[in-house]
Amino acid sequence: MSPPFAVLAVLAACLCGVPLLVVCSDHLNYRPIIGVLAQENIVGDPHAQGSSYIAASYVKYLESAGARVVPIKIHQTDEEYEKIFNSINGLLLPGGDVDLETSQFSRLSKIFYDLAIKANDASDYFPIWGTCQGLQQMTVLTSNKNLLTLTDTKAVALPLTFTPASQNSRLFKAFPGNLLQSLSEDNITSNFHSWSLSLQNYSRNAKLKRFYKILTTNTDGRREFISTMEAYHYPFYAVQWHPEKSPFEWVDKPGMVHSAASVRASFYTALFFVSEAMKNRHKFSSASEEGRALIYNYSPVFTGLDGIFVQNYYFD
Ligand SMILES: *[C@@H]1O[C@H](CO)[C@@H](O)[C@H](O)[C@H]1NC(C)=O
Ligand SMILES: *[C@@H]1O[C@H](CO)[C@@H](O)[C@H](O)[C@H]1NC(C)=O
Repeated sequence: MSPPFAVLAVLAACLCGVPLLVVCSDHLNYRPIIGVLAQENIVGDPHAQGSSYIAASYVKYLESAGARVVPIKIHQTDEEYEKIFNSINGLLLPGGDVDLETSQFSRLSKIFYDLAIKANDASDYFPIWGTCQGLQQMTVLTSNKNLLTLTDTKAVALPLTFTPASQNSRLFKAFPGNLLQSLSEDNITSNFHSWSLSLQNYSRNAKLKRFYKILTTNTDGRREFISTMEAYHYPFYAVQWHPEKSPFEWVDKPGMVHSAASVRASFYTALFFVSEAMKNRHKFSSASEEGRALIYNYSPVFTGLDGIFVQNYYFD
């Protein structure tokens, strides 16, 4: 190709939008801001202030991969949430222990999920990541039902069982081969959940089956459950395990893993999701509004070495 044609080809590639975002790096947003949902304080948390919290590990996890974080507090109006949605580049639904149908967390999740569906349908690329409770909440939102079942997975590290469909997943595509091998052979994913979506209930629910591609499963010895999934037609991703715990949580109990492979697995999931957020162009209406919204306005509280979360942000 002679130089003028090369220039034209690049220009054409840059003008054509979404499918070419990967080719045309000028279209990426290298200052992504990701919203993290707060949830009702854990009953009996001696450190709690106000009504809601975000475990700091989720914030560090996103920051480690090149994003900044905006906390999304509970008890705001739908209009305020819509304004936040139009200012951020992605959403993380963290783990925790609230009701998936009646909590404020579930209410906010639904507002943002619906907005994200609408945005993506209109070619406004908006990614969502769910971890543990976040995955569970996403299954409730997609199916309009709570189809979870109890499993014996409260504090255990497991290797992932990859499905054939994971071979052409977006999420695992850029993972190094030796990391995928560790993930599939070594007990490096931390599980801290009582509830799971069984493969059985997933397969019997047409909405879930149509919406999510299953990338990995696990079993508690009795039931096979979904441990990693991504939506077929939306940039929505979810893990039942806890990538953020390996580098950033330090409670000393079974199921916690801090090996180099587990920390790498954590980083690659974060890097993947932040790269997805880089494809979104939402922004705050001004620098001062952005400044007021960022998590830097809050200080995390150290909850002690045996806290399930070593540091928490608390909100009114
Ligand atoms: C399927 O979902 C129902 C709730 O609708 C739940 O009671 C049941 O335990 C689940 N079964 C399995 C095998 O996951
Ligand atoms: C590792 O995971 C397997 C399940 O694949 C489980 O049977 C085994 O107990 C685990 N080992 C440890 C040390 O947790």
